[in-house]
Amino acid sequence: MKYYLTTPIYYVNAAPHIGTAYSTFVADFVKRFKRMQGFDPVVFTTGSDEHGQNVERAAKAIGKTPEEYATAIATEFVRQWKELGIDYDHFIRTSDPKHHETVRDLFERCQKNGYIYKGSYTGQYCFHDELYVNDAKPGDPCPDCGRTTETVTEENYFFKLSAFQQPLLKLYEENPKFIQPETRKNEIVSFVRGGLNDLSITRTSIKWGIPAPVEGAHVFYVWFDALISYMSAVKDENLWPADLHLIGKDILRFHAIYWPAFLMAGGLPLPKRVFAHGWILFEENKMSKSRGNVVRPLPIAAVTGADALRYFLMREITFGQDGSFSYDALIGRYNADLANGLGNLASRTLSMVHQYRKGVIPDSGGSGDIAQLAEKTVETTVEAFDEFEFSRGLETIWGFISIIDKFIVERAPWKLAKDEACVSLLDETLYTAAEALRITCALVYPAMPESAAKIWAQLGVVEPLDRVREAGLRWGQLTAGHKIGTVAPVFPRLDAKTSIEKMQRLEDEERERQAILLGKKPEAKTAPDATPAIGIEDFAKVDLRVGQVLSAERVKNSDKLLHLQVDIAEAKPRTIVAGIALAYEPEKLIGRKVVIVANLAPRKLKGITSQGMIVAASLEGGSPVLAGFLEDVPIGARLK
Ligand code: MSP
Repeated sequence: MKYYLTTPIYYVNAAPHIGTAYSTFVADFVKRFKRMQGFDPVVFTTGSDEHGQNVERAAKAIGKTPEEYATAIATEFVRQWKELGIDYDHFIRTSDPKHHETVRDLFERCQKNGYIYKGSYTGQYCFHDELYVNDAKPGDPCPDCGRTTETVTEENYFFKLSAFQQPLLKLYEENPKFIQPETRKNEIVSFVRGGLNDLSITRTSIKWGIPAPVEGAHVFYVWFDALISYMSAVKDENLWPADLHLIGKDILRFHAIYWPAFLMAGGLPLPKRVFAHGWILFEENKMSKSRGNVVRPLPIAAVTGADALRYFLMREITFGQDGSFSYDALIGRYNADLANGLGNLASRTLSMVHQYRKGVIPDSGGSGDIAQLAEKTVETTVEAFDEFEFSRGLETIWGFISIIDKFIVERAPWKLAKDEACVSLLDETLYTAAEALRITCALVYPAMPESAAKIWAQLGVVEPLDRVREAGLRWGQLTAGHKIGTVAPVFPRLDAKTSIEKMQRLEDEERERQAILLGKKPEAKTAPDATPAIGIEDFAKVDLRVGQVLSAERVKNSDKLLHLQVDIAEAKPRTIVAGIALAYEPEKLIGRKVVIVANLAPRKLKGITSQGMIVAASLEGGSPVLAGFLEDVPIGARLK
């Protein structure tokens, strides 16, 4: 049975970082695991999302055509995924003519079925997020990124998303695993229950896009274009529908609402499952270019190997939830789990087989207890991996590794070797350790393909690891007389201080290199836009006050908005809705002194009336940084 899975296709406005690498590592894991489960063929698509105003602008800024710019970044993704050992089958670029054809075909199907109509739209548009902001007035900021929206009037084609409320709810009900994890599914269900607006799916304001098969200069809106890449990649391969779309939680709505609706409208089969994982935070903060805390995978891989990074991310983070990355934690786990754990088990076991049995696997069935435990370990691990509980699966394997370690210590082969009467006990001990290592190696392969293959080669097994199926995980497959290979350390211990310094130095170099690739000067990132000068009387019109955050919570159905109560020494605290949720944990804001624009006309965001605005530095491409004070200031004080 086939298994077709995808990662998001990544925007070409940034090179890979550990966030995009995370989705890609997981997809690579799932591919290898599904193959082990016997699915055939297992096909994995990734790619680049190249159209849209942002790319058009970025390319122009550095004197390149959008095609040239997109090609440079797409090539960078391809190179880095290869270097990180990602075994994808298709890298689909939205600029690929084969993709254009699929997009037009879906549009025509939807049109034929009566789900497309022509309309005119005037609205506030955020060019950064490439979306219209509903209910916004000219000059209003984008509720997602805070940038000023621009008024745009266009004639576009609309997709009747509103017609799909009931079919979508039915889909979620009949296929409880269509959206995972469960909490995210509940968010989507309640969003859809709240009603769906039709969606404008073409633009005339953009040139860099796929021309729609209609009169006039319409190109497709980015999401109508991007999602379909999952189908274009496997055109004529008989692989559709996808079995799994792996994505981050930021783009779940597009995948769980728009995408199935587009397909239903076109009369095409729907993907089986959309799994939205959480955010990787860097030392508790969201990674962003403006904070300067983006972490890239290659500098890490150069020091620990790509496998250690994959292992760390999958072991440390419960899949589906947010989790943190830090260099310290990475090196800590590397030394504990890889150098001391798996690496030690491998070198100890194989060295003993060399030392006591001249590198030949002895004739024994191994310990019955351990054999039983191995079967149980395989069962639990496979079940966990199958449920996308990667961390639990890996934890189970490492539990097994530590039992084998203990077993070796208790049996003390170095003592048995000195006693003639213990020949068969020594045989049993060595067989047990070697067979346990073989099974462990096959089980960790989806997480650490390169390292597992090295240990596999040292075990001397000829069959390639990617051919091992579930039956190969059963106990007792190392045969007597089998000759093992040469032993070499797979995970040499790392010194934390020097390794971290090296990763940081390489990271600095990589950042510089990528800035050049993206045509940006690193310093230019934070340069404010030139604005016309104003007189003091204009500035005095803005009532800026010191406030203190009394409470903060996330706004329902929004990843980016926080609902705050801020005391500015008035009779009642102000309700303020701020687009800072990706940068600040609500709990951490309570008690913090902030700057509020107190005389801004009230404005409704997601049904909550915001009575003012919180002041923050808005840096290009990144999250906001709140203004604050170094000295203590009284609540309500005016800023002049
Ligand atoms: N081009 C769209 C996707 C279109 S899919 C048809 C897009 N691209 S993106 O480059 O912004 O990539 C977003 C994806 O990158 C997220 O959904 C997630 O998979 C991954 N991540 C980016 N930053 C991340 C973290 N900090 N943490 C975890 N994953 C993150 O959206």
